[in-house]
Amino acid sequence: MGRIMQKRLVRKLDLELFLSQIESPPTPKPSLEQYTIPAGVAATILYLAAYAYNDIINKTVLDLGCGAGRLALGAAFLGAKHVVGVDIDKSAVRMAFENSLKANMKGKVEWIIGDVDVIHGKFDTVLQNPPFGVQKPKADRKFLKKALETGKVVYSLHKGPHKDKAFVKRLKARKNGVMLIGPSSFFKRFIEAHGGKIRAVYATVMAIPHMFSFHTKKKHEFVAELYVIERI
Ligand SMILES: C[S@@+](CC[C@H](N)C(=O)[O-])C[C@H]1O[C@@H](n2cnc3c(N)ncnc32)[C@H](O)[C@@H]1O
Repeated sequence: MGRIMQKRLVRKLDLELFLSQIESPPTPKPSLEQYTIPAGVAATILYLAAYAYNDIINKTVLDLGCGAGRLALGAAFLGAKHVVGVDIDKSAVRMAFENSLKANMKGKVEWIIGDVDVIHGKFDTVLQNPPFGVQKPKADRKFLKKALETGKVVYSLHKGPHKDKAFVKRLKARKNGVMLIGPSSFFKRFIEAHGGKIRAVYATVMAIPHMFSFHTKKKHEFVAELYVIERI
């Protein structure tokens, strides 16, 4: 694979525009919680990882449960050295491949169809927006374990418990869309038990459109929490 290096700081808006052109899987499967991360949230995560922590540019990056590839392709766009995306769903990976062709990024990301368990390599950075475990309880734990096994640094998105309207309002008003918060005691214990140390936790508002029959509102809005973790 050729060396990809982003020579200049990419504007967040340009990153968001690039990500918004990445199409979702054609037939998302509720059992896999297969919704696509909103372009704005993906841009926020990638921007933090690249420019606040220096974990993307010229790094090897793994996207666990890549879906149609927004995080993987965004990492390649920002100048990752090598990117791998893996997803259990064939049609999602096919969409990711087509998205990479459309973005002129063929060969910049390696796509794998399979369970996260098939990955055994080592990566500088793991990015993941795993199933939150709404359909299959604890589905995100397997992802966290694999991420901590394969990555030096992990960016993992989870559904937070916050429901307080005032908190959501304050969060939405933030210029960069995120707020530093404390970790949940469960996640802290889980991460430390698997060899990780939490660098930071960021709350952000996430809105996903009505996709599945059990969604009762047009848009489901909730607070998501980004765990930034390093392996010790
Ligand atoms: C919430 S979606 C996120 C998709 C994409 N990363 C994004 O942020 O737009 C979770 C993804 O994990 C995939 N997935 C679920 N269980 C999996 C497993 N055991 N191994 C690999 N991928 C899995 C689903 O197919 C789905 O594409």
